[in-house]
Amino acid sequence: MMLVRTLVDLRQAISGNQRRAFVPTMGNLHEGHLNLVREARAHGDCVIASIFVNRLQFAPHEDFDSYPRTLDRDCKQLLAAGCDIVFAPSEQELYPEPQGYVVQAPAGLGDVLEGEFRPGFFTGVCTIVMKLFQCVQPQVAVFGKKDYQQLMVVRNMVRQFNMPIDVVGIETERAEDGLALSSRNGYLSAEERAEAVQLSLALRRLIEAVKGGATDLAALEADALASLAARGWQPDYLTVRRRSDLALPPAGEAGAPLVALGAARLGTTRLIDNIEF
Ligand code: PAF
Repeated sequence: MMLVRTLVDLRQAISGNQRRAFVPTMGNLHEGHLNLVREARAHGDCVIASIFVNRLQFAPHEDFDSYPRTLDRDCKQLLAAGCDIVFAPSEQELYPEPQGYVVQAPAGLGDVLEGEFRPGFFTGVCTIVMKLFQCVQPQVAVFGKKDYQQLMVVRNMVRQFNMPIDVVGIETERAEDGLALSSRNGYLSAEERAEAVQLSLALRRLIEAVKGGATDLAALEADALASLAARGWQPDYLTVRRRSDLALPPAGEAGAPLVALGAARLGTTRLIDNIEF
């Protein structure tokens, strides 16, 4: 496996007629990321992972500075998972000048849910993903369904810009108790870690209620928010959406593929999760 830090070295490393499968990450890797790399192995003869903590997708009050940078450990894990090239550029390398051109996700997709509670987040994600795609020029890119809306936004961007890239979505990896693996789980205290699974349990209760025939989604969501808040969480949203476009499912549209999504803060850690049904 090769570790490259500059665009010049990356271009040299990827030259040749390989089918490139790409996994963008911000590092501090866990089993969920490694599954993406293993999946990428099945899609390309050259697997490239990037590690770059992208300032553009963090709001000033968020955890950009404290986000764990664990390059040595990440590289060992990537090697074991079958990665060929790790692209870990500096900020100066990717943003040599203030980024004047940005990619903005469309209204209705980029400004709801995560986009509503983290304004600017998807502009930061789309812009860096576009830049990374330009650098790596992959034929396949692998993203986790854990960041469900991000996966949808990236797919939408690739489609609208006619980029010749297959975007593959991979199921969320969960801990034994059901907590979705996330780099931010490391911020949780022991007590918070034990409580953290309640987010996915709240989503499961929401799903059971919908499957059981309940139709007043607004009331169900309000109950779900109140029950997490009563346990000491600060929920942003718990909601059921149409999988195709993340819109609220119109009443009477039975049988459409749905997804329950949630985001909530436990102490100072913001967790997100989703379950398709
Ligand atoms: O999901 C992430 O880790 C990031 O949002 C991504 C896609 C690597 C862009 O910085």
